[in-house]
Amino acid sequence: MPLDAFERYPLLFGPSPIHPLDRLSAHLGGARIWAKREDCNSGLAFGGNKTRKLEYLLPDALKQGADTLVSIGGVQSNHTRQVAAVAARAGLKAVLVQERWVDWPDPVNDKVGNILLSRIMGADVRLAPAGFGIGFKQSWHEALDDVRAAGGTPYAIPAGASDHPLGGLGFANWAYEVQQQERELGVFFDTIIVCSVTGSTHAGMIAGFAGQDRPRRVLGIDASATIDETRSQVAKIARNTAELIGLGRDLRDDEITVLEGWAGDLYGIPVQSTLDAIRLTGQLEGVIIDPVYEGKSMAGLIDLVRNGDIPRNSNVLYAHLGGQPAINAYSSVFEQHLT
Ligand SMILES: Cc1ncc(COP(=O)(O)O)c(C=O)c1O
Repeated sequence: MPLDAFERYPLLFGPSPIHPLDRLSAHLGGARIWAKREDCNSGLAFGGNKTRKLEYLLPDALKQGADTLVSIGGVQSNHTRQVAAVAARAGLKAVLVQERWVDWPDPVNDKVGNILLSRIMGADVRLAPAGFGIGFKQSWHEALDDVRAAGGTPYAIPAGASDHPLGGLGFANWAYEVQQQERELGVFFDTIIVCSVTGSTHAGMIAGFAGQDRPRRVLGIDASATIDETRSQVAKIARNTAELIGLGRDLRDDEITVLEGWAGDLYGIPVQSTLDAIRLTGQLEGVIIDPVYEGKSMAGLIDLVRNGDIPRNSNVLYAHLGGQPAINAYSSVFEQHLT
């Protein structure tokens, strides 16, 4: 069925803003770079890409009579923080399983940033020892069982709201939103850059853009350092979403591109190119990006513009997906002013 036939619980302010990054573009001397800002897409706890996805999951949760959203992520998960905010907004409870996805030694890692915000918003935050993985975990099943045992009705939201039948819809809608904004701005974004980890942000975009007449490149930048898993997850969700919204054809393999090279060796650990990208974006544009996701996708964008892979006459749209609260757990990497 068409995308606009799916029920959507309004959580966003409206279309997220798009603006040019002209000082960064001039500095790189190539394509014109623009940003679409999911970090300020709503008034809910600093926003982010999951808020957009949850617009489509929440009606399903309410229809099922759920009173508790149950989800999972790393200790500094942006996703679980957005689940906590959406639960608060909708008058539901939230149970959040926070795993040790990142072996990060910062002494306040499990106290500040996203996890702090989730606690403020009243979520039941449970620290769990498991490492990085976007699959279904024992701790998550236990959390669901606990809610049931206490007489509640849980609604299960997987990591990143991705491996869920409706997980791709939020960013399929983003693709339509971009098309409308292009008409208003009088510009066509021939290249989209998006960070990819649990996959449904990139996948939803692919499905949404595939239904438009004018082709463009939608380049995912892997930030998980598990490229094969990311690629297959994106392909699976993109194809499911395309079918769900009635695309009417199978997606071609060349429509699904996840690039590697900027994740470093591990999810959640910034490398030099991540830190350079964060400083450059901050110093030239006053725009803040994080060391786990957006710093890595911006590092990819910078290299692709510099080496001409994205040509000079391009308009490239950088999807800023949020994630700034996690910066609080990474203070040590910015203590020295490296040039
Ligand atoms: C700030 C930020 N950027 C990018 C991503 C990647 O999005 P996805 O998990 O849908 O691939 C996430 C979440 O995982 C995120 O929180």
